[in-house]
Amino acid sequence: MAGETHAETQLWIDGEWVKTDRIVPLENPHTGETFAHIGYASVEQAKQAIDAAAKAFETFRHTPAWQRAHILRSVAELISDRRDELAETISREAAKPMRAAKAEVDRTIQTYLFAAEAARDIRGESIPMDAAPHGEKHTAYTVHRPLGVVSAITPFNFPMNLVAHKVGPAIAAGNTIVLKPAEQTPLSALVLAKLFKDAGLPNGVLNIVTGDGKELSEVLTTHPDVAFVTFTGSPRVGKLIRAQAGLRKVTLELGSNSPLLIDEGFTDGELTQIAEEAVNGAFSYNGQVCISIQRIYVHQSVYEKFTKLLADKAKALKIGDPLDKSTDISALINQQAVDRLQSWLDHAISGGAKAVTGGKIDGRVIEPTVLIDVPEDAELQQEEAFGPVALVAPFDDWNEAINSANRSKYGLNAGAFTKNIDHALAAAANIQAGAVLINQVPTFRVDQMPYGGVKESGTGREGVRYAMQDMMEVKMVAFRSDAFR
Ligand code: SIN
Repeated sequence: MAGETHAETQLWIDGEWVKTDRIVPLENPHTGETFAHIGYASVEQAKQAIDAAAKAFETFRHTPAWQRAHILRSVAELISDRRDELAETISREAAKPMRAAKAEVDRTIQTYLFAAEAARDIRGESIPMDAAPHGEKHTAYTVHRPLGVVSAITPFNFPMNLVAHKVGPAIAAGNTIVLKPAEQTPLSALVLAKLFKDAGLPNGVLNIVTGDGKELSEVLTTHPDVAFVTFTGSPRVGKLIRAQAGLRKVTLELGSNSPLLIDEGFTDGELTQIAEEAVNGAFSYNGQVCISIQRIYVHQSVYEKFTKLLADKAKALKIGDPLDKSTDISALINQQAVDRLQSWLDHAISGGAKAVTGGKIDGRVIEPTVLIDVPEDAELQQEEAFGPVALVAPFDDWNEAINSANRSKYGLNAGAFTKNIDHALAAAANIQAGAVLINQVPTFRVDQMPYGGVKESGTGREGVRYAMQDMMEVKMVAFRSDAFR
């Protein structure tokens, strides 16, 4: 980390470090100690970054696909060379357990490699003009053109890979970028500045402004030179961004309280395996994942057995220092997150919920918690917990479980374990979600798959090729063959 100290206090604009007047300490969420200092950009500096991106676009939009692919592949290689160091950066600033941090670096490499592949495979189509009588004697095709400056606003929970999901497709498509990483986790983004420069990215194509989201998001969404806004974060901020963005295209990846359905008919061994996967899905990175399992609906016949398995496995998770390889659970990102979750736990329990395991809070660490009998109107049923809490409830009938899954304002990923093909098809057809994963937990994601939500979980899709579709304009070109005869 020592090597990063210089960069930590600055912004990355037009290919160089730019100093800021406002320097803010960065706290390690696990120890509470200040371990770095971060520059907060002024609105004027955010405008400079947009100007630099707009200027760079004039050239970068003509950069051939093979060069964009080469840069993206090179950055993936540079990240791979520094895997352990970068995982430590993530772990330290996000309090993400090292195993999960390493997995995130590996996924980041994949995301940039997928972007490199996709850059070389941007295609339009020929349009059958003579399908309409007055279209005869025309030949036409479409091309996909980059939009211009992309404003990317990213969250703390995957500070490297969710940045890659915006920066990778934007570069692959030929756009330029102003990135505003989360206040809590700027280092994992700042480190990219130098890596992209070393990979050959021209100055001004990627600009990084760290700082206060509230102050900077307005200029990043309303500046006339910004063509596209991509945001991952809370529905509250997502709605604000959509309102500010006006006619610009916007992709919003917002929250969820993802459901998991577990049918009857599983052996004890199979239930044990499902419980193991559900524990990972609910508690990995302390549940601070948009597709973390929050609501589990279990067939009455296996409800008690499954709940006990889940609780036992949750209890066995190791709480500790995120930098320790054996740690599963550590501090939440900040005290506000702890206070919010504590009050939601208190409300649920005073309304009749019971903790089968967990529920205790020690500083910023919340024990992995499994709750039953949670009242329907509790925040933990209605809202996104974004913490290590899973709710379990029994059902008698598969359609009733699907209805319960849909009793949410969110719809990102949903999971359903069943051996009954009719039930699998019903879940796939009727669960309101961006993705329905059969015999898989909703937390499952590979970086090339379309990823995004319905309802308040957002609009648009990520997953490199899908993000690129949103970041390009379809342009139609037609040639008339009989114009001057
Ligand atoms: C998210 O929290 O939205 C991202 C989850 C993931 O990429 O696994």
